[in-house]
Amino acid sequence: MSESTGVVSAPGARAATSGIFITLEGGDGSGKSTQAELLAEWLRERARTVMRTREPGGTDVGDAVREIVLHHRGHIAPRAEALLYAADRAHHIATAVRPALERGEVVIQDRYLDSSVAYQGVGRVLDADEIRNLSLWAAEGLLPDVTILLDLDETVARARLDAARTRYDRLEAEKSEFHARVRAAYLDLAAAEPERFLVLDAAAPVAEIAAAIRARIEPLL
Ligand code: TYD
Repeated sequence: MSESTGVVSAPGARAATSGIFITLEGGDGSGKSTQAELLAEWLRERARTVMRTREPGGTDVGDAVREIVLHHRGHIAPRAEALLYAADRAHHIATAVRPALERGEVVIQDRYLDSSVAYQGVGRVLDADEIRNLSLWAAEGLLPDVTILLDLDETVARARLDAARTRYDRLEAEKSEFHARVRAAYLDLAAAEPERFLVLDAAAPVAEIAAAIRARIEPLL
C-alpha cells in the first residue's frame, strides 16, 4: 500500500509521516554502506536533513543487541536470534526512525526487516511469513518507501570480505549455502514487491550504482 505522503505502512500501522524512509539490503560485502554514504552526501547537497542509521545497532540498546547477535561465542537458538533482531528493530524504529520521519527527514538505513526475512526466515530456515509478521509487529507496520537491494554472487562477496577482514562475525562465518539461500530470498522478496525494491548489480562500478540510486530517489524529493 503506497501513500502519497511518503512512508508506506502495512494495514493497522500508525499514520504515515512526511519523511522518506530508504533501506539498503544485500549480502555481507555488497557495498551497502558505501552507497548509503554517497546517497546521504547527495541529499545533503540538496538541503535535505538526513539520518544515517543501521540495524542491528543505531541506538544504545541496539548496540548491546548487536554485540550479542554478532559476537556471542556460543550457539544462539534461531528463534532467539530472530527475537533479538526484532527487539533491536522495535526500539530503533520507535525511538530513532519514526521521530526522524515525523520531523520530515530522510532516513537512510543499512538493513531492515528484509534482512530478517532473508537471514532468519530463509537462511535459518524459520518461517519467512512469521518472521516478516514479527518484524512488522515490532516496527508497528512501518515499511520503507524504497529498498535498494545490492545483489551480489556470494562467492564474489566472500572474496571481498576476505580481502577486507581477518575476523568474521557470527553471520559472516556461515557456510556458502547459507549465503546462497539469503541471496535467493532477497531476490524473491524483490520480485514480490517490485514497486518498493530497486535491484542493482553490486559488481557494477560504484559511481554507476550511485547514479541508479539517485535516479530512483529524485522523484520522491
Ligand atoms: P553488519 O556488520 O552490519 O554487516 P553488513 O555490513 O554486511 O551489513 O552485520 C549485520 C549482520 O547481521 C549481517 O550478517 C546480517 C545480519 N542480520 C540478520 O541476520 N538479521 C537482521 O534482521 C539484520 C538487521 C541483520
